[in-house]
Amino acid sequence: MAIKVTPSGQACGATVTGVDLTAPLSDSSVADIRAAWLDHHVLSFPDQKLTDDDLERFTLYFGSFGNDPFIAPIPGREHIIAVQRDADESAPLFAENWHTDWSFQEHPPAGTCLYGITIPPSGGDTLFADQHAALDAMPDELRQRLEGRYAVHSARNAYAPEGMYGEKDEARSMDIRPSEDAKKIRLHPIIREHPETGRPGIFGTVGYIAGIDGMEPAEALPLLMELHTWQTQDRFIYRHRWEPDMLVMWDNRSVLHKATGGYDGHDRLLHRTTIAAYRQSA
Ligand code: SIN
Repeated sequence: MAIKVTPSGQACGATVTGVDLTAPLSDSSVADIRAAWLDHHVLSFPDQKLTDDDLERFTLYFGSFGNDPFIAPIPGREHIIAVQRDADESAPLFAENWHTDWSFQEHPPAGTCLYGITIPPSGGDTLFADQHAALDAMPDELRQRLEGRYAVHSARNAYAPEGMYGEKDEARSMDIRPSEDAKKIRLHPIIREHPETGRPGIFGTVGYIAGIDGMEPAEALPLLMELHTWQTQDRFIYRHRWEPDMLVMWDNRSVLHKATGGYDGHDRLLHRTTIAAYRQSA
């Protein structure tokens, strides 16, 4: 049976039905899902009662597992982390700033799969911002100031011992492991072509982007803030509302994303894998 892809009607995102992710997928189903993923950037699969084995098998259809630093995997699994918040948790929300996953790596993950296990009755939506649409609509004057520039990406503001999830971050249910490694930097072009579709887009945003190569901070920071304001406008956003037993996969090369709150007093638990940029040979 062919999969059915229903666009969200927002800036990006689509729902996929007509496929059972608890069973192995045919090559043609995988090809259809990949095509829909590249087209819509964020796919959600409702009503999928997945085990961790199912989640891993699904991830591996699209590439090798990514390398997930600074967060310990769940017991018994090497490649699954828990994105989790307890009902009475007081630590700041995890991933509440716009970002693209692990953009400070040499080869950041192509995609992320996130599976909803415990979902609060309201709140806890995930927002996605389409970075191809944001670039398409960008005024020439702003684009000219960014074109050809390289951003300095680093995890230091988040995962260094002094960072947001560092040694002073207490009472958090997620198993985050801050490290001096977070201070390493990696350059990526601010505007670049998607490696599979060739479509130009903006890669990353201030946060994991800590500066612009060859530009003084006094000039770079206001430019990064101007870019952030541009790339996260409502018109580029898809708001994803979660349901239990729903899998979402997104393309880190095409979208920014962020978590939202609004569910105090309720638990939230999702299992997450990443899809590496390149498939590693066995
Ligand atoms: C994430 O950035 O992986 C988490 C998103 C969320 O919790 O909604």
